[in-house]
Amino acid sequence: MSSTTLQLAVIIASVREGRFGPVVSAWFAEQARRHRSFEVDVIDLAEVPLPLELPSTPPALDPNMQRPASMAELTRRLAVADAYVIVTPDYNRSIPASLKAAIDWHFSQWDAKTIGFVGYSGASGGLLAIEHLRQIFNELNAHTVRNYVSFPRFFELFDAEGRLHEPDGPAAAATAMLDQLHWWASALAAARSPQPVG
Ligand SMILES: Cc1cc2nc3c(=O)[nH]c(=O)nc-3n(C[C@H](O)[C@H](O)[C@H](O)COP(=O)(O)O)c2cc1C
Repeated sequence: MSSTTLQLAVIIASVREGRFGPVVSAWFAEQARRHRSFEVDVIDLAEVPLPLELPSTPPALDPNMQRPASMAELTRRLAVADAYVIVTPDYNRSIPASLKAAIDWHFSQWDAKTIGFVGYSGASGGLLAIEHLRQIFNELNAHTVRNYVSFPRFFELFDAEGRLHEPDGPAAAATAMLDQLHWWASALAAARSPQPVG
């Protein structure tokens, strides 16, 4: 891929012991690599300390906000991404607290970027978390794409090696979402560029 290849960060939202998130994210990251339109970076929030105590000045009002040094690498990886796909379960009809903390510790990193979702859980397949994320990212001036991937009753869909029993439908859903993400990521990267167009 060229140095101008768009960057996609795939974010594993859940951090609990025994979580299923890495299985879903590994499947999606493979779909994203096969799509060949992004350089793919998988960010595992379980590897980052995410304190709940934010600084006194909200990130929106402080472009130079100080974060814990242990968060610097996460911040760098979020900042270079042109697009994100968040892999999230429903936790009590919403998102895991780990993901909300990671979002709230940042601000400009999400600005004018595009975001897609892969959800999984019981009956709702992550859709309740995804709908909350659309509201959250609207506040952060990010564009969430229409298409998504959802795995209701995820525990029946994957084998012990993390392969889907019936992969074609989810693969088509991932491709449709990645197509939309690529369109928006290209448009927003050009719009964010300080270079005049043309
Ligand atoms: C705190 C918590 C809340 C949950 N709430 C829901 C829920 O509202 N709806 C649902 O279908 N499943 C719910 N579940 C079940 C999760 O979908 C399931 O445990 C899934 O494996 C969680 O993702 P993870 O393994 O990556 O943490 C919940 C699980 C946890 C741990």
